[in-house]
Amino acid sequence: MASETFEELKVFVGFGSQDAANLRALAGPAEPLLPEVVGRFYDVIFSNPQARNVLQGGDEQVERLRETLTKWLVGLFGGVYDSAYLESRFQIGVTHVRVGLPQKYMPLAMEVVRRSLVDGLRTQSIPDLDEKLRSLHKLLTIDLTVMLESYQQIRWEQIRELERTAVAAKLSRAEHLAEIGQLAASLAHEIKNPLAGISGAIQVIGDSLEAESPYRSVVHDILGQISRMDATVKDLLLYARPTPPQPSVCAVARLVPRVLSLLQEEPSLRKVQVEFHNSHPDATLYADEGQLEQLLMNLIINAAHATADGGAIHVEAVCRGDRTLLIIRDHGIGMPPDVQAKALDPFFTTKAKGTGLGLAICRRIADSNGGSISLESEPNKGTVVTVDLPRHVNGHQTRDT
Ligand code: HEM
Ligand SMILES: Nc1ncnc2c1ncn2[C@@H]1O[C@H](COP(=O)(O)OP(=O)(O)O)[C@@H](O)[C@H]1O
Ligand SMILES: [Mg+2]
Repeated sequence: MASETFEELKVFVGFGSQDAANLRALAGPAEPLLPEVVGRFYDVIFSNPQARNVLQGGDEQVERLRETLTKWLVGLFGGVYDSAYLESRFQIGVTHVRVGLPQKYMPLAMEVVRRSLVDGLRTQSIPDLDEKLRSLHKLLTIDLTVMLESYQQIRWEQIRELERTAVAAKLSRAEHLAEIGQLAASLAHEIKNPLAGISGAIQVIGDSLEAESPYRSVVHDILGQISRMDATVKDLLLYARPTPPQPSVCAVARLVPRVLSLLQEEPSLRKVQVEFHNSHPDATLYADEGQLEQLLMNLIINAAHATADGGAIHVEAVCRGDRTLLIIRDHGIGMPPDVQAKALDPFFTTKAKGTGLGLAICRRIADSNGGSISLESEPNKGTVVTVDLPRHVNGHQTRDT
């Protein structure tokens, strides 16, 4: 604690050399009172279960405390209130933080000390007692403030430390993701072209086979696997190399059916029903249409993966002020809280064949289009994904508007 702060405290309560002299004059009368004051202090602590709990060191500790408190009391009447005094008082505060004494007990305990000292001194005939007691009150308030300052200082240090570790964790995560992103992008690029070549060649072979050839189904399987790889590579590129959105006003009533028709060939959707509740036929979105299609496809495919055969998925748009909410609801397997907490992270997947990029891409699309995405899920009940997007041109928060 800075010595200017100590000076400031003294000035604030008007503590000067006369107060120092007054306290010095109380030293003699106070001395016989100290055992009583200390006794009263520990009676109060021991009658409070929470405060008593702090005393874990047994009789030995209590004995030590009686001595240190007595010394502390003697110090009050020493007549010297310099920076060494300040430092020792500040350290007492530090000790209490270290032993885990809740801060509230400092002013409360000080009140006990104050009362028993004053009551004891009043039983004696001391000239100008009121004047001298005023000096004692000033000093006890200064002492208390200094001890509370150490609580404050340690708390600041703890907050700064927390911030430092949080920032460090964020930075290393961001760097890590940027590296993975770059790696993924270059890898995806390397894979994309040969994959297209292989796919073309296999198709040529397939076309040359007799209609009844047993190899036709093999070729079909190979093409299926290749298209899965192609989808993964596309996801990787989409995630690692996001394109800036080109927003326009799109009608939800056209967007959703278009997405559903794009998904017609999607195997995971064959055994589930997607129902579009067109309850706001004039609902619009101001966003990049291609990116929104991507987002909806990812969400509907996820919902389908979670849904048992014959189940239904519901897609709905709700207008709220200048926002439009796209809600994708399923009644599938749902997510336990730990999965839900990580579901939006890139590369997080619980599926053997998943990339873990679907929701990460959705989040990025929502973010870059001035929106947000949230999940609500309960195991075995289902999942609701809500995408909140601007409804009109002026509802869009871009950096250049
Ligand atoms: C006005 C209030 C108080 C004053 C002036 C005071 C004074 C002191 C002093 C002078 C020390 C020794 C400091 C050191 O060694 O650095 C100390 C330590 C300690 N105090 Fe207090 N105290 C106060 C309130 C309390 C309260 C309410 C508790 C509640 C349990 C408490 C528990 C302790 C404990 C556990 C230690 C450490 C003891 C050890 O193991 O050495 N104090 N206190
Ligand atoms: N509708 C849903 N119901 C249950 N779990 C889901 C749903 N959507 C996403 N998840 C969970 O979130 C994880 C991450 O999803 P996503 O990022 O799309 O990657 P992927 O689908 O490749 O696993 C999934 O593996 C799954 O565990
Ligand atoms: Mg997915």
